[in-house]
Amino acid sequence: MPVLDSARTDNKINTMGSAENIELTQDILSKQSEKSRDRLIPLLQEIQDRLGFLSEESIELLGRHLNIPASKIYGVATFYNQFRFQPNGKYHIQVCRGTACHVLGSATVLEELQNELKIKAGNTTSDGLFSIEIVACIGACGLAPVITVNGEFHAKVTASSIREIISNIRMKEE
Ligand code: FES
Repeated sequence: MPVLDSARTDNKINTMGSAENIELTQDILSKQSEKSRDRLIPLLQEIQDRLGFLSEESIELLGRHLNIPASKIYGVATFYNQFRFQPNGKYHIQVCRGTACHVLGSATVLEELQNELKIKAGNTTSDGLFSIEIVACIGACGLAPVITVNGEFHAKVTASSIREIISNIRMKEE
């Protein structure tokens, strides 16, 4: 199965505890003088960018900062696919759903991955080992369909190569 050298290193794996999540969120909010509700989405993006996901504590703090109930913030954030509410797994898997990958079977690849890990895209397995994210074109269309595992590209993946990738990781982790 083709594996390319890692080309992306922007994957976020959050291994922080609540206290660190709170501290980081407070740091972000302390630099915000503007408390307009228009800042909600940019701040959610910034928090996720720094923490890798939106923690309960972060949403509470943001709610207090902008004077918006946390339930409303959840309502807004869940509307957008870009936001995550769980930290990434130790192995964060991105499935490209760009046009080339879509045409060459990324839907089957995603389905196999979700079946194998028993989670839906956007979630993390209960053991914290795997998470799945659907992403737009990652710039390797000639090798479609493509997934990345912690930034390492796997080209021309199939349902069976997906099972092999997961099984190799599980063996490594045993
Ligand atoms: S569409 Fe998947 S890499 Fe471009």
